[in-house]
Amino acid sequence: MFNADELKKLFLDDIEVVKNDLQLSEFWKKYLGKTGKVQGLMNGIKDVAKEEKKAYGQFVNEVKVWAQNLYDEKKAGIEKAMLEARYEKETVDVTVPVKSRPVGNLHPLTSVKYEMMNVFSGMGFEVFEGPEIEDDDHNFTRLNVLKDHPSRDMQDTFWLTDDLLLRTHTSPGQIRVMDAKKPPIKVLVPGKVFRSDSDATHSPMFSQMEGLVVDKHITLCDLQGMLDEFVKNMFSDAAKTRLRPSYFPFTEPSVEVDVSCFKCGGCGCSLCKGTGWIEVLGGGVVNKKVLENCGIDSNEYSGLAFGIGIERIAMLKYGINHMGKLFENDVEFLKQFKA
Ligand code: DAH
Repeated sequence: MFNADELKKLFLDDIEVVKNDLQLSEFWKKYLGKTGKVQGLMNGIKDVAKEEKKAYGQFVNEVKVWAQNLYDEKKAGIEKAMLEARYEKETVDVTVPVKSRPVGNLHPLTSVKYEMMNVFSGMGFEVFEGPEIEDDDHNFTRLNVLKDHPSRDMQDTFWLTDDLLLRTHTSPGQIRVMDAKKPPIKVLVPGKVFRSDSDATHSPMFSQMEGLVVDKHITLCDLQGMLDEFVKNMFSDAAKTRLRPSYFPFTEPSVEVDVSCFKCGGCGCSLCKGTGWIEVLGGGVVNKKVLENCGIDSNEYSGLAFGIGIERIAMLKYGINHMGKLFENDVEFLKQFKA
């Protein structure tokens, strides 16, 4: 009675050409939307004779369900195709070699500092960092460098006020650690230090690494043992140390430590200026007065301390002859230290 075939053919012809979601939504509007053909058929019911209304209603309904299915199928097909196209487009070929970007490297001073910390932390040292602005008390007085004592002239100080200064060495770190901690103590204090001094081997700002051990029965032998281990790790397995008597107000006895020349093995060369030995650091047994200044009983405890110039170690290790090179930040120079 109501022939759906012609109508269906129209739908089919139209859906055939639908290729994307935009065309699909146009199809929806045209057939299934509020003003679409199916709704138009529904509205037509008012013109149908009363006895045919039921059959007409069934016919329209059948067309509606059929068209909806057609639409759903097409929609699923388009969505699937779109997803596949996206997967295809976004595929990452993990086998393509990466574009390599130049990687920077640590500054030689930083890597030497880390290397030194590594060696000492292997011996159980902890790291403490003190302030760069110090007061007279920590930088001098409690380290037994008393006012008007000639040893104050050993270091040309940058004074900020009558009392405050840029620390001239990392040794005030010893005082700060002993104030904060009871023995046993085993610390490293790395940091920048400042002195009014400038030539090929001196700079107004340079870095040191202080070492302090306080415990029962600590002797100069412990210092030599640790430093032997240190130079072997930093320079060569064959490196040995030699202690020479020296003077520092905060250690008694005080020593200057030489390492056997790792370039010539001790026979004498330009690096060691023919002596076979290179001076690397100062140290000694902590002066009892310094322990007492920090409230540590010097009859029960003893200590050892040392101070190492980090630039000096870096210069020796890499054969750098001018300290300024370590501060100029010349990229061509720094690139040579790529690991
Ligand atoms: N503070 C000294 C300096 O800057 C180096 C030094 C010597 C540190 C002997 C020490 C030490 O801890 O025991 O010249």
